[in-house]
Amino acid sequence: MTKTESTDSTVLSARLRAGTRDAHQTAESTGFVTRLMDGSLPLAAYANLVAQHHTIYRALEQAGEQQRHDTRGATVIFDELTRTPSIEADLAHLIGDDWRSRIEVLPATRVYAARLSEAGASLPRYAAHAYTRYLGDLSGGQVIKRMVQRHYGLGDQGVAFYTFTDIPKTKPFKDEYRERLDGLDLSAAELDEAVAEAQVAFELNTALFGELGRLYESLVSH
Ligand code: HEM
Repeated sequence: MTKTESTDSTVLSARLRAGTRDAHQTAESTGFVTRLMDGSLPLAAYANLVAQHHTIYRALEQAGEQQRHDTRGATVIFDELTRTPSIEADLAHLIGDDWRSRIEVLPATRVYAARLSEAGASLPRYAAHAYTRYLGDLSGGQVIKRMVQRHYGLGDQGVAFYTFTDIPKTKPFKDEYRERLDGLDLSAAELDEAVAEAQVAFELNTALFGELGRLYESLVSH
């Protein structure tokens, strides 16, 4: 068994995976995600998710900038993960060049972004949020990309968020990312804090899906 597959309770990546398994199942099964995957939502619903990602990733990546200057945190900052410019390109394609004046930040997104801003000052909490989003985007995100492209007739434009141009193969990168997480010098209390924060991170995503789901409930095509 390799280090990344270990279930050793001190290994962060294994603890994050085990600690968020149920929360992942819940997030993945929300009505909004299910309907996005089966193509029954209008394209505007997908565009709105991208719009919410803009606020979320700006906050996540600003938190990452804080961690870049931390001797421990710097090891889990990867420039090739930066998503904000891709999200902006997707919004210009999906909404138009005036997207900034046309998008609305939802309450659940504000709550999520506030939590991310606080996490910038804490390595275990930043690591939890970065893990939840980036490893998710490199995993299920790749499935979402293909489904969205198929249902909405998109090519490369509009899904740049899911395209990591500087990460040609996701598997070795995810392995490296988990190794970096496992190499962090965290105390037992910090490890616990990271797992608890990752559970919060999943809940924040589920809450956002709930809000988006309610917005588009009446527009689902059957
Ligand atoms: C349609 C929705 C989704 C599908 C189909 C999906 C699918 C998957 C799959 C197949 C994996 C395993 C990949 C691997 O072992 O390399 C995975 C991992 C992961 N997903 Fe999702 N996912 C979805 C939604 C989400 C959401 C909404 C989040 C969080 C916001 C998320 C976060 C993660 C994370 C953090 C991992 C890494 C788990 C680990 O190995 O530690 N996923 N997902």
